[in-house]
Amino acid sequence: MIQVRVHALSDECAQIRSLELRSVDGAPLPAFSAGAHVDVQLPGGLIRQYSLCNAPHENHRYVIGVLHAPDSRGGSRAVHALQAGDMLEISAPRNLFALHPQPVHSLLLAGGIGITPLLAMAEHLAAQGAPFALHYAARSAAHAGFLQRLAQAPWAAQVHLHFDDGPAQQRLDMPALLAAAPADSHLYVCGPAGFMAHVLEAGANAGWEQARLHREYFGAAPAQAQALAVTSFEVQIASSGQVFTIPAEQSIAQVLDQAGVFVPVSCEQGICGTCLTPVLEGVPEHRDQFLSFEEHARNDQMTVCCSRARSARLVLDL
Ligand code: FES
Repeated sequence: MIQVRVHALSDECAQIRSLELRSVDGAPLPAFSAGAHVDVQLPGGLIRQYSLCNAPHENHRYVIGVLHAPDSRGGSRAVHALQAGDMLEISAPRNLFALHPQPVHSLLLAGGIGITPLLAMAEHLAAQGAPFALHYAARSAAHAGFLQRLAQAPWAAQVHLHFDDGPAQQRLDMPALLAAAPADSHLYVCGPAGFMAHVLEAGANAGWEQARLHREYFGAAPAQAQALAVTSFEVQIASSGQVFTIPAEQSIAQVLDQAGVFVPVSCEQGICGTCLTPVLEGVPEHRDQFLSFEEHARNDQMTVCCSRARSARLVLDL
């Protein structure tokens, strides 16, 4: 873990606060790439993931943006209570939402607080001279954070704002956007589940392969995953042969933790991938947003914090 100090806080709009984090001793922070996030250990023992939204070439600070969600499970409330000078422990940056390595045209699609990783992507692409457009959708200008930074960026001409309460001609028109994108463009989307579903469905309908549709979820699992029936099943540990029954009200990770079988977890929502575990036998029921459609279809690994089983037993490579 890295110890950092809250150097500055800034309200980016009524609901979004950005925090600038610097190392305690002034030493450079570990490098990061656009789309990376850090795990932040918050007061009360909570761990939350936040995307880094400053330019990836900076090594003197990390900037995160946090939405004050009315239905917060504690994370955003704890962040919004922080003051300048407070100390925090964070992980080194990890990137589960990286840009395609080739300098292809990038369409960056942000909904609400999902703007944060895309800010870092826009900074990186602009610095590389790579072509991109950033489309930022929000309920209204008052709900959109970082508008001043976007307006003052050297790449401001590549930013397109879409407000639900604005005139019809500025609304996000995904079919038109996709049709006008150069061939082989890659799309990156982050935002609320409904926004992401809309964007990804438009991409699929337009015939874009999944490999060109990059996504990062930042909230709890989409409603359809939550609504799936929950039943008990068995999990076998390959190395020891131990078999555990996973009851309907507990996750695999919780049962294994109680039995002393170590599995690292962080978000416990199927977002971060920390608990990813190889599957040797059985068919998982994937409930995460971390793995891609193709990775789900292979059924050879699963997030044990939230995913369950379609078969009566799973054998895990632990
Ligand atoms: Fe984050 Fe399981 S702990 S995906």
